[in-house]
Amino acid sequence: MRGKILQLLRDLGEGHLSGEELSRRLSVSRTAIWKHMRALKEEGYEIEAHARKGYRLCQAPDRLLPEEIRNKLQTKILGQHGIVHLDQVDSTNNVAKQVAAQGCPEGLLVVAEEQTLGRGRLARGWFSPPGRGVWLSVVLRPPFAPQEAPKCTLMAAVATARAIRKVSGVACGIKWPNDILWQGRKIVGILTEMSAEMDAINYVVIGMGINVNIAQNDFPSELQDIGISLATVAGHEISRVDVLQALLIELEAVYAQVMREGFSPLLAAWRELSVTLGEIVTVSGVKEEFVGLAQDIDEDGALLVKTEKGLRRVLAGDVSIRAQKGVERK
Ligand code: BTN
Repeated sequence: MRGKILQLLRDLGEGHLSGEELSRRLSVSRTAIWKHMRALKEEGYEIEAHARKGYRLCQAPDRLLPEEIRNKLQTKILGQHGIVHLDQVDSTNNVAKQVAAQGCPEGLLVVAEEQTLGRGRLARGWFSPPGRGVWLSVVLRPPFAPQEAPKCTLMAAVATARAIRKVSGVACGIKWPNDILWQGRKIVGILTEMSAEMDAINYVVIGMGINVNIAQNDFPSELQDIGISLATVAGHEISRVDVLQALLIELEAVYAQVMREGFSPLLAAWRELSVTLGEIVTVSGVKEEFVGLAQDIDEDGALLVKTEKGLRRVLAGDVSIRAQKGVERK
């Protein structure tokens, strides 16, 4: 109902709509309309209530509310079968895994204004301050074999880079396997988690953290030289709802293409956006560290690194790109 009220008010632009007209068009009582208006105002919508003319929507809140995300969202699956919006949560991935285990439909979206225990790869944390980023998780149930699940990370990386380009004009690159970088600084991190049987995936949760409007000074000192936000690069604040909608659209398009045509076009798109390929990299695994030339990714999304001892296939681990003068570029 609130979505419908907002839609009617949005369609009017600068115009007004009386409570009577709203209740007539939506076939509910005027008291019900009044209660919804009060709830919308509590959510942060600025709605003018003029005694004679009626209601006018002045401004939507800068929050990732389901009504805002769904507004004109051109997807069929992602964000269309449930959106969980939380003001504060430990980690959106934790919530998404819970609801996925309970059988939620594919495409369910969990999004939070703030994460108190945002998680990154390799047991790292993820800085997730309130209202400044897009901290989200989506549930997929791909019909892939479990060993193909890492390709969901590649899908997410390609989709995010494209979405960012579309919304802000900022051209980012992908550092294998899951970082979206701008000039060596991290704008987005992706954490893919899954539950599977031997031969089938139950669910995949793709968690993405997008630094949208974080002022550089607001990053913790240890992230000052590593992280950056889209707003800093673009030179102005960016709508988080726009970023999120664009991401859902691009991710759905990439996913649909994979289902139709297999992984080859995805791998080709990933290679195009990669900042890792062709670079000298240091690979830090659990047991060892080695240096080599990042040559390609294979059909499984593994990084192929040419070393003095031959070609190494990297499926997991941390990769840093060596800068020209021997300084690590991240
Ligand atoms: C990384 O770069 O190591 C991955 C970071 C992933 C962060 C996102 S934010 C939304 C989702 N919830 C989490 O706890 N982590 C992911």
